[in-house]
Amino acid sequence: MAHPYDAYAELRTSSPVSFFEPTGQWLVARHADVNALLRDRRLGRSYLHTATHEAFGQQPEPEFQEPFWRVIRAGMLDVEPPVHTRLRRLVSKAFTPRMVESLRPRIRRIARELADGLVERGGGDLIAEVAEPLPVTVIAEMLGVPEEDRPLLRPWSADICGMYELSPSLEVQHTAVRAAREFGEYLRELSRARRDEPGDDLISALAQVVDAGDRLTEDELIGTCVLLLNAGHEATVNVTGNGWWSLFRNPAELARLREDRSLLPTAVEELMRWDTPLQMFERWVLEDVEVGGVPIPRGVEVALLFGSANRDPEVFRDPDLLDVGRVDNPHISFGAGIHFCLGAPLARIELIESFGALLDAKPELVEEPAWKPGYVIRGLQALRVTV
Ligand code: HEM
Repeated sequence: MAHPYDAYAELRTSSPVSFFEPTGQWLVARHADVNALLRDRRLGRSYLHTATHEAFGQQPEPEFQEPFWRVIRAGMLDVEPPVHTRLRRLVSKAFTPRMVESLRPRIRRIARELADGLVERGGGDLIAEVAEPLPVTVIAEMLGVPEEDRPLLRPWSADICGMYELSPSLEVQHTAVRAAREFGEYLRELSRARRDEPGDDLISALAQVVDAGDRLTEDELIGTCVLLLNAGHEATVNVTGNGWWSLFRNPAELARLREDRSLLPTAVEELMRWDTPLQMFERWVLEDVEVGGVPIPRGVEVALLFGSANRDPEVFRDPDLLDVGRVDNPHISFGAGIHFCLGAPLARIELIESFGALLDAKPELVEEPAWKPGYVIRGLQALRVTV
């Protein structure tokens, strides 16, 4: 898990589409195939819009997981059209490049304050003290989560994300279910309060839509808010942490970026490519398909290896080289097709502002960091620096 890229290189050459016994999934390693499958409507994040669990040849989830799936399947990420189209349309206006550009001054101020705090303390954990609070504050402010409740968000999100790892233990599953239930109940209360007394925030806006009629159910409102709050910070935290670790391991590139801040936009894209924060996404095969000449039948799951696709030499020149000025960079870290990351424009601004503020602080690495144990969500435990 710490060094998956050599294994990916071998997969891409020797068996780019291969059955993986331990998880019962088909692994897809090449950029062209991952990109094509993300856009192919014969696959889906879910199959439940086409068949029941039984008709699709799958076991229904155990009863105790019901509160988890109730929240998760009410958000746009885990549904397909037409429900996906309706849910995405309701919030997409809040995340257009123009809308999020108007947030840049506020994001810059938060990034500066956090970086200044790190400097005042002479250093610390770059992840806990800058990488996490920046996107959590931004998405919580957009949705209107009161400041005193924000410390709840990160643990709920982390517990829910445990379910997305490969073969989660029973304990992890129970923890995820509990977090989803608590988070859901919290948002139900908050959205009802906002319905009665609206503020200038996304939860209030969505609560009015629930009230206005049949365009959004209360469960969908909750599922949408959980998704936005979790997706709205989880990967951004890891791109910041992994990105700094990548720069520390490539000091010439760090020096180049320090010299020339105009490289920040390409640097952020390159850091997302070089060490991919979300290593794998799954899709169900809804109709028989052929991938790279390999037939894959309806009813199975494919695991799209984003980390591998992002190092494919068919697409990227010198893929193992970190080049903060790389211009031709069609990385797949934000996905593709109908589920393409809704928050990509926001994430880009957050990352550019946070890397910019931290470059000024001139952090230096104290010790080699350790990876968190997960594979799908790739992030560091901590990143200790002095300034
Ligand atoms: C660098 C940070 C981020 C990365 C790498 C990232 C990555 C992704 C990826 C790969 C997907 C698609 C998953 C799939 O196809 O199965 C996705 C979807 C999504 N992301 Fe992000 N994301 C980031 C930040 C954000 C932010 C800041 C938000 C803010 C709201 C956000 C909201 C969403 C939402 C709502 C979806 C679901 C879109 C849909 O199903 O139509 N993401 N993200």
